Amino acid sequence: MQIKSPKYIYDFFNGVIQGENVKHYKKLYKEIDFIYKTRDNQLSPDTVMYEVYSFNEGGSNILLWGLTVIYPITINGECNMTRGHFHEDREEPEIYFGCSGEGLLLYLDSQGKIFAEKVFKGSLHYIHGNYAHRLVNTGDDTLRVGACWREAAGHDYKSIDEKPFPNRVYKKDGKIDIA
Ligand code: F6R
Ligand code: ZN
Repeated sequence: MQIKSPKYIYDFFNGVIQGENVKHYKKLYKEIDFIYKTRDNQLSPDTVMYEVYSFNEGGSNILLWGLTVIYPITINGECNMTRGHFHEDREEPEIYFGCSGEGLLLYLDSQGKIFAEKVFKGSLHYIHGNYAHRLVNTGDDTLRVGACWREAAGHDYKSIDEKPFPNRVYKKDGKIDIA
C-alpha cells in the first residue's frame, strides 16, 4: 500500500489552507465599505478586511472546505464582519467551526428575524439553508472560522443588500454593544 502525503494542509495557527487547488481571495475595504454603517476615511481603501480560502476536488456533487480569516478592525467603533449572504438554494446548509479568536455568527431568516451565536475556538455551528449568515470579529485578535458546504448552494448577496441585517455590532471601551 502506498502512503501519500495529504493533498492539503490546514494550518490552524497561521490561518491558511495550502494545496494545489486552493482558491484564495482578499476582501478589501473599498470593495465592501457599503456594508458598514459609516465610512472611515482614515482607513486605507486597500486595507484587507478579511480573506477566504477554499478548495474542492471537482466532480458532480462538489463539497467545499473553506477558511475565513477576519481581521480585528473597527470602523468608527463597528466591528469588522463578512458581507453576509443567503445561499441561492435555500435548501443548502453549511457548517462553520471556530478555529481561533472570538466573534459572533449572525443568522437572519427571510422574515427579518435575527439571532446570534458566540464563535470561539472549538465552537461548531450548523447553518440551515434558509438562514443568511454573517461573521463578526468581536475580539482583539484575528478571527478564523472553518466552513464546509456544497458548491450547489451558491451565494445570494442581493437579498442582503436589499434587506440588510437589522443589527450591528460595536465595540466601545472593550465592551460589545449591539444596536
Ligand atoms: C460559503 C461561506 C463562507 C463565506 C466567507 C465570506 O458559503 O459562507 O465561505 O463565503 O465567510 O463571507 P461572504 O461570502 O459573506 O463575504
Ligand atoms: Zn455560506
